[in-house]
Amino acid sequence: MGILDKKVAVVSGAAMGNGWGIAKVFGREGAHVGMLDVSDEVFEAAKAFEGQGLRVSAYKVDVTDFGAVKEAVDDLAKQQGKIDILVNNAGIAKLIPFLEMTDEIRDLHFDVNINGAWNCTKAVLPFMVEKNYGKIVNISSVTGPIVADTGETAYAITKAALWGFTKALAMEVVRNNINVNAICPGMIDTPMVRKAVAEIMPDDPQAIIDAMASGIPMKKMGTPEDIGELAAFLASDRASYITGQPFVIDGGSTLPESALSLME
Ligand SMILES: NC(=O)c1ccc[n+]([C@@H]2O[C@H](COP(=O)([O-])OP(=O)(O)OC[C@H]3O[C@@H](n4cnc5c(N)ncnc54)[C@H](O)[C@@H]3O)[C@@H](O)[C@H]2O)c1
Repeated sequence: MGILDKKVAVVSGAAMGNGWGIAKVFGREGAHVGMLDVSDEVFEAAKAFEGQGLRVSAYKVDVTDFGAVKEAVDDLAKQQGKIDILVNNAGIAKLIPFLEMTDEIRDLHFDVNINGAWNCTKAVLPFMVEKNYGKIVNISSVTGPIVADTGETAYAITKAALWGFTKALAMEVVRNNINVNAICPGMIDTPMVRKAVAEIMPDDPQAIIDAMASGIPMKKMGTPEDIGELAAFLASDRASYITGQPFVIDGGSTLPESALSLME
């Protein structure tokens, strides 16, 4: 028996990367997972999971479109009779220096990363309130609340905003038996990171990946399944006395006080 046995979950941005890892671990732990993603790849990912015996439903949905999100969530709830878990994971990151960042690209970050989480929560929360049970996990980042690199102003705002959203929502629904927490990943090896790295150094992206890994005390990037394991714990009843908290998962990357501790 898995720690999410008989639970019904919605995971946004589940076609690849962290959302894919979260859906995989949730499925393995016994949940039925509603995979929402703007990309057609969500259908292939769902098919592959079904081939492994996991229970999933795929929906092609843009999280910025509340009507589309609600339609998918309502359909899943109708099929499965309830929704226990929501993971607000869908997100974008474009590394652009502040003075070159257009208002449109800034607003795109706000729309997907903040309003997307808002829309999914609005669509799912009534089902949780109805059953007096729920677990919400917001995928924030160490970027913004704790650290930042150049080119990350718009992205950092959105990830810091999710900390505030997590705390305020946690207070609002605490009496409905709904827990709301946030996960703050460090460097995770996903298509988002691989794409950003390929743009910085198209000739040798692996050199940047290696350089990034060498700056992490564990000397490696995390995997989407690492994020899935933490999300599964926070979405389970094992974490029932935890709410309103951010959890850093970064191989120790925010830990060193000086570069001295990273020297071989
Ligand atoms: N990879 C990292 O190192 C890292 C670190 C910290 C936080 N995060 C966060 O983890 C989350 C996932 O990131 P990732 O690295 O897996 O990215 P990714 O680009 O590899 O995957 C993101 C997924 O979200 C989907 N998506 C994007 N916009 C969407 C929209 N409007 N509606 C529905 N789906 C949409 C994409 O199609 C894709 O499947 C993001 O919130 C990101 O900020 C990632």
